[in-house]
This record gives sequence, C-alpha cells and structure tokens, in this order.
Amino acid sequence: VDKENHYAFVVLGAAGDLAKKKTFPSLFQLHMGRLLPGNMHIIGVDNPQFHKDVTNVTDFWDQRLREHLEKQKGWVNEDLESFKERLHYVQVQLDQPDTVVALDRHLRSLAEDRPKEHRVFYLALPPFLFAKAVENLRERCWSQSGWNRVIVEKPFGKNGTQAAELTDSLKKYLDEKEIFRMDHYLAKTLVLNLLTLRFANRELGHLFHCHHVANVRITFKEAIGVEGRAGYFDGYGIIRDIMQNHLMQVLTLVAMEAPATLEAEDVRDEKVKVLKQIRPIAPRDCVIGQYEGYQLDPDIQAINRKRGYPSRSPTFAVAVMYLDNERWSGVPFIMKAGKGLEVHQTIVRIQFKKAPPNSLFGEQPQNELVIRIQPNEAIYYKILAKMPGLTQQARDVEQTVLDLDLKKRFELRRTPEAYEKLIHDVIQGESHNFVRKDELEQAWRIFDPLLTTLEEEEKRVPETYSLGSRGPLKADMLIDRMGFRRYTVTGVPGFAED
Ligand code: BG6
Repeated sequence: VDKENHYAFVVLGAAGDLAKKKTFPSLFQLHMGRLLPGNMHIIGVDNPQFHKDVTNVTDFWDQRLREHLEKQKGWVNEDLESFKERLHYVQVQLDQPDTVVALDRHLRSLAEDRPKEHRVFYLALPPFLFAKAVENLRERCWSQSGWNRVIVEKPFGKNGTQAAELTDSLKKYLDEKEIFRMDHYLAKTLVLNLLTLRFANRELGHLFHCHHVANVRITFKEAIGVEGRAGYFDGYGIIRDIMQNHLMQVLTLVAMEAPATLEAEDVRDEKVKVLKQIRPIAPRDCVIGQYEGYQLDPDIQAINRKRGYPSRSPTFAVAVMYLDNERWSGVPFIMKAGKGLEVHQTIVRIQFKKAPPNSLFGEQPQNELVIRIQPNEAIYYKILAKMPGLTQQARDVEQTVLDLDLKKRFELRRTPEAYEKLIHDVIQGESHNFVRKDELEQAWRIFDPLLTTLEEEEKRVPETYSLGSRGPLKADMLIDRMGFRRYTVTGVPGFAED
C-alpha cells in the first residue's frame, strides 16, 4: 500500500453524455486491467441545476453509469463492485465558489493525510466553460503537494482566433505542461503505430517520398448521420469536426520527418515543423456535401427556423493539401470525411507511382500501402505477384496483398479504446499523444482561409448525396483529377476500395 501518494481523477460534467459513454467506460477498462493506481478515487462532479435526477453517488451509478459499464466486455460482478468503491459524486456549481471549496475539502479527506496529492481534472464540459472551470479549480481546488493535470477536448474554437483566445484564457491559470489537449485519434492503435512503421522499418520508410508516392489519401467514413448531435454538429460541420483535428493529426504522422528522439517534445517539434510546410487549402481543391434528409432532422429544422435559411453545414468534404518540402513536393494529400456514407471505415492509402509504360509486365495497377485504422486494424500492401501454376509465366501477374491483420496476428481479444490509452497517459504524465498549442495554431492556419471562403465569401451550398452512398459525384471527380486510380484486388475478399 502506497502511504505517500493519493490520486484523484475528477470528471467535471460527469452526468453528461461524453462522460458516461467514453470517460467512465474507459476508466472501468483500466480498472479491470489493473492499470489505475490503487490509491485512486474517481470523483464525478456535475451541476445540480442541469441534472436534477443525480444528487449522490447512488443516483449517479444507477441513472448514468451502470448501464454503460455493463456494456463493456469481460467484467465480473467483483469488477463492478470494486470500481464502485473508488467512486464518489460531488455537486458543484462553478458560479458558487463555496461548492468548489467543498470539492477540495472532499478530495483532501479522501487522501487521508497522505503527503502527496495528485489530481487529474477531466473537463467533459462545453468549451465555453473551460476558462471558468480552470480559474475555479486553480484558485480553490488545486493540490499544493503533488501534480495537477487538466484534460480538455475539442472543439477548441471555430477558427484560429477563437482557439488562440481559448489558449490565452487557459494560459492565465495553467502551464502548458499541465494542459492535456485530447484528440482521441492519436491513440488509435494503428495511428500509434505510424512512426514505428515508418522509422523502425528503415527500407519501408524510404518509400514515403515523392520519388515513389503518387498520392496519399486519408479517408474517414461513418455510416450514421448526426442523429442526436445535430445541435452541436451544425455549428461546426465535418471540416472542423473531423478534418482539422483527427485527420490532420494522422496526416502529420504520415508526413513528418523522424524526430530527434521519441521524447514528447521532440516528436511534437517535428510535427509542428511539417505542419508549417503545409499550404492553406485552396477553395477550388475542396468539395463539400450534405446528405439528403439532414435538413429534416428536427434539431436542424429548429436551427433553420431561427437562422432564416437552410443549413449549409457540410456533412461531407474532400480537401486536397500540398506540402512544400523536399520529401513531399508535388504529392497531393487527399483528405476525405463524411457521415451518412456506405461504410464505417478510416483508412490511410498511399498510392505508389505507376511503372513506366515499357515496364516488363505491361499495363499494371499501381501498388498501394494501406493502413486501416478502423474497423479491424490492419496494414496491407497491394503488390503484384506471379500467378501460381505450371503453365504461368513471369508476366502472368495479378495484384494481391501482403496482409497484417492485427487481431489475428497478435491473437488480440480486443484493442484498447483510444480513451483508455489517453487517460492512462495523463496519469503517467505522458504527453506525446496530446496536442501542443503550436500544433493547434498550425492546423487552424491551414483550414481558416478555406472556411472563411466557403462560409462568408462564397456562401457555398453543399452538394447533396443520398444516405448510404459514396458521397457526391463531384468529390470523386476531384479525387480522380488528383491522379488517384481505383483498382480492385480480384479474388481477395475484404480489401474494399474507398
Ligand atoms: C468525434 C466527432 O470527435 O469523433 C464525431 O465529434 C465522430 O462526429 C467521432 O463521430 C468519431 O470517432 P470514432 O473513434 O468513432 O471514429
């Protein structure tokens, strides 16, 4: 038993949606995996004005948590019971400082005179409350004897200016090293693998170069629409919801140079370097879409009525980016994200250059290295091979795949949820997989001019596409113009195109 340290994991906004769907199930998984410190209490905190049905830990358990924890795999009753023992619930109103002081008192009593108190504050709150929450915590609920760490999640503003304001308001109270800006894509198993794939396999790393690569595609597809989240989504749109953060992080890891070391600051320095080399997106290199039926969502209708015109918020977009550096000169990075599409899938596809026309094997498809981030994490390399058989000649080639399917290869029961990895990282003080403020600034620099043109200058109306389709035709036309070619691997099921 550790008599020195006590840990408090405080979730603000604990009775809300994010906390019950992501934060607490992840904490539960870490608990089951014995990955949380023994002396750690988990404290749900929320505002009694908004959650009248939750007044104490029993309500919190019954009304919010139980159902979501029971959906997790692999638990036995004892896991639920022991998790419950860590759990507390405290009502706090940020505009009543006394309640924050009471939270501090509660945390101190849990520490039971252990000399070092460490606190994580997870802000599962809307961003307009970040500054107020942090000010209150810093002044009234800050551990003086151990470390304090604050987790925040996007949206970090709607543009660079707003993001900078948010950064400044947090900076008044926190050091950069105390802020953990979460982008859960950074903790997906194969996103974590990108630097290893490129830099631990030296020869493979050399393929990531304009000498070999024709184009890079980063594609996010969701089959569901915005059901239940329309109120948030409509104000942001798919470019801010998915591209500017999640896909931009993936692009950075695909494109960056090897860092000086694998230490967090070195990795993030290198990420910022490559971000600085990306040109802002030209509006002509972007197609936006909206699925049919979006305007019929009752929440959207209400917003439309207030605004006086139909929503122009895109649920789909393709945008092409160029990097001005030696390695990637002239290679289009084609980013695509959409909701209401035909599949659920996130993929990075590196399409290699075509062999010269006088190649020994005639007209052949281009090879591709594909990293399937989800579902069913896999890395596969589409290559040409001679068809087996006595009468087949060397020129009788067919495209096939070298395939690493993570779950099969490593016999994994499950790969950890991104949130588990990130929460574990924060407790360990590991900041690699969090977004530094200069990364955020750069990502906005790339997207800001495009968003201004689409929304304020052109007032561009998105192309409509039917639910469950590939998205608008114009998007495929743009992708084709960028030189991407579609090839289907015949005879090998499970390697769908995107
Ligand atoms: C969130 C977006 O950040 O990521 C959602 O706000 C999106 O719109 C989600 O559905 C996708 O995450 P994942 O892990 O399910 O691919």
